[in-house]
Amino acid sequence: MQKNYGVKFLSFSGALPSKVVKNTDLEKLFDTTDEWIYTRTGIKERRVVDNGESGLSLSLQTAKDSLNKAKIDPKAIDLIIVSTATPDKLYPSMSCMLQGLLGASNAACFDLSAACSGFIFGIATASQFIYTGQYKNILLVGVDIHSRFLDWNERSVAVLFGDGAGSVVMSSCMAKDDELMGFILRSESDTKLDLTLDNENVTFSQFKNQISPNFVKMNGKAIYQFALRVVPEITNQILDKVNLSIDQIDCLVLHQANQRIIDAVSERLNIPKSKVLSNIQNVGNTSAASIPLAIVDGIKSKRIKSPCKMLLIGFGAGLTWGASIIDCNIN
Ligand SMILES: CC(C)(COP(=O)(O)OP(=O)(O)OC[C@H]1O[C@@H](n2cnc3c(N)ncnc32)[C@H](O)[C@@H]1OP(=O)(O)O)[C@@H](O)C(=O)NCCC(=O)NCCS
Repeated sequence: MQKNYGVKFLSFSGALPSKVVKNTDLEKLFDTTDEWIYTRTGIKERRVVDNGESGLSLSLQTAKDSLNKAKIDPKAIDLIIVSTATPDKLYPSMSCMLQGLLGASNAACFDLSAACSGFIFGIATASQFIYTGQYKNILLVGVDIHSRFLDWNERSVAVLFGDGAGSVVMSSCMAKDDELMGFILRSESDTKLDLTLDNENVTFSQFKNQISPNFVKMNGKAIYQFALRVVPEITNQILDKVNLSIDQIDCLVLHQANQRIIDAVSERLNIPKSKVLSNIQNVGNTSAASIPLAIVDGIKSKRIKSPCKMLLIGFGAGLTWGASIIDCNIN
């Protein structure tokens, strides 16, 4: 592809709700143990929205932080993309609501739905507007509030997810300074409905019936196998595409779905544990926010050192999966 401009990643940020739910709190809700959850998933605790917090309030917090760090005035933002599968409202979009709170009056806004791959799909989408010269500054937010869509009586799914938001400002630069080395996006219709969140229970003729709640439903084993099939495959494809070998990658940021998936994938890829980021222990699976939150954690803990070639991989409902490699001076 002919690139007229390059993409710079200016500032990763994240925001988490204040309420912590530990595995031991879940022991009081249903028949489970901290030990079962930790050994099967690597999760010890997660955050959930409470006391007036929402997807929008977390998005605002992380977006403001990214804009401040990037020293970009909200009015200079040309496009806001919010990747989410759990918006506060079906409409207006999260991005339009965020625009108003930020005062980003010159931005076009839309939400993007690719579940846990949302941040990777967002990076790819934003980059096209920058490469063509259409837009200069783009705010990308990944946010999901799964706590509203979990059956808190159902132990096999409720233990996995947490709420959160993450963001980055992507700006144009000269083509030779492009920090996005490449990306691949993939989809495969989930015809068996292995991972779903319905929104279609009430029809015209049923409207008098009680609305049945819409909860996340998952075939955990199928999703586990899906991740182990597609992640090593897409890693090899993206490395081939950008002509790098795995040992030239400084840092692997895999969607934080389950520590066992992270460990199994790292082993198959033969990448040392020291290069693999993980913050799932404290936040659970935060879906579209998981990759930026892991990056922010890696920056804080100094596991990401600048400059850094990062391999980012998302996978999730749809089914969707995607990878990108960015080579950037992180801040
Ligand atoms: C969900 C997951 C942790 C379950 O682990 P698993 O080893 O497959 O566990 P199983 O579903 O086989 O369940 C084993 C047993 O534990 C029980 N169990 C399930 N959840 C439990 C919990 N929270 N606490 C205690 N026991 C639980 C099951 O009922 C089952 O009991 P049984 O043997 O008496 O029937 C695992 O399948 C997984 O991580 N899948 C991927 C999920 C994912 O990442 N989704 C998001 C992708 S974006």
